Amino acid sequence: MPYNLLKGKKGIIFGALNDKSIAWKIAERAFEEGATFTLTNTPVALRFGEINQLAGTCRSLVIPADATDIHQIENLFTKSMEFLGGKVDFILHSIAMSLNVRKGRAYDDLNYEYLHKTLDISAISFHKVLQVARKLDAINDWGSVVALSYVAAQRTLFEYNDMAEAKAMLESIARTFGYIYGRDKKVRINTVSQSPTLTTAGSGVKGIDGLLDFTERMSPLGNASADECADYCITLFSDLTRKVTMQNLFHDGGFSSMGMSQKAMAQYILSFEADNK
Ligand SMILES: NC(=O)c1ccc[n+]([C@@H]2O[C@H](COP(=O)([O-])OP(=O)(O)OC[C@H]3O[C@@H](n4cnc5c(N)ncnc54)[C@H](O)[C@@H]3O)[C@@H](O)[C@H]2O)c1
Repeated sequence: MPYNLLKGKKGIIFGALNDKSIAWKIAERAFEEGATFTLTNTPVALRFGEINQLAGTCRSLVIPADATDIHQIENLFTKSMEFLGGKVDFILHSIAMSLNVRKGRAYDDLNYEYLHKTLDISAISFHKVLQVARKLDAINDWGSVVALSYVAAQRTLFEYNDMAEAKAMLESIARTFGYIYGRDKKVRINTVSQSPTLTTAGSGVKGIDGLLDFTERMSPLGNASADECADYCITLFSDLTRKVTMQNLFHDGGFSSMGMSQKAMAQYILSFEADNK
């Protein structure tokens, strides 16, 4: 149900690839809540994804940009401000990619060129977006920036690989830049640490089905869906959360505070019974 939470607000949304993408759901909800925004992704993703369909529904403009390239980010901000008729109020960073994960390289056999790419795409791109935004003075005072993270930044989760380092860095950038941008412009910067979700990036994580079952059993409220993540991010872009900044906010049904649950223990005990047969 729309509440007009983003009425009159303008934004830029990175990372909608297809209708499974978390950014896609956030774009749909932002539109419902009255926002106008541009959509962006890499030129390759624009060719293979379905973003034009989303742009049509949301009366948005698609502007290609590789988020690791400063010049493309500058162009994105300039064109977005032209299209939107001024500075933006919110930015969503919903970007991740690891070649080590894609190519099946284990954590103790990393390709370091791939590691640099993982960090550049999945974390340093966030710094680049913020730095360009600040130099162009592209975000209105009291604006809000959100990047999507994962609990592997704090805890070791088997098979998350070098994306764990990327998420730790992403969260650190939110804190460090959050101070500077908050001090000077009252712009708030947070990360949302989302439950595992079946998207294109999510499906790349080895053993995602087992992980989804485990986190579902462990979380008192169950896994958070992409639609629920969209609802949460809308509140962070709205004026209802103006004093929340430099935080990593868990949106995971309670998983991050759990050690063991009744449902997970029941399943674990079943595995002993299977072993004893
Ligand atoms: N799916 C999950 O289980 C899960 C859980 C927690 C956090 N997240 C995070 O949510 C975010 C969105 O992922 P998703 O699950 O919606 O998957 P997704 O595959 O739909 O989105 C990832 C996006 O990153 C974009 N991207 C890759 N390289 C880029 C570059 N150089 N420049 C610009 N964009 C680039 C891709 O084109 C794609 O649109 C990621 O940061 C991911 O780590 C996902």
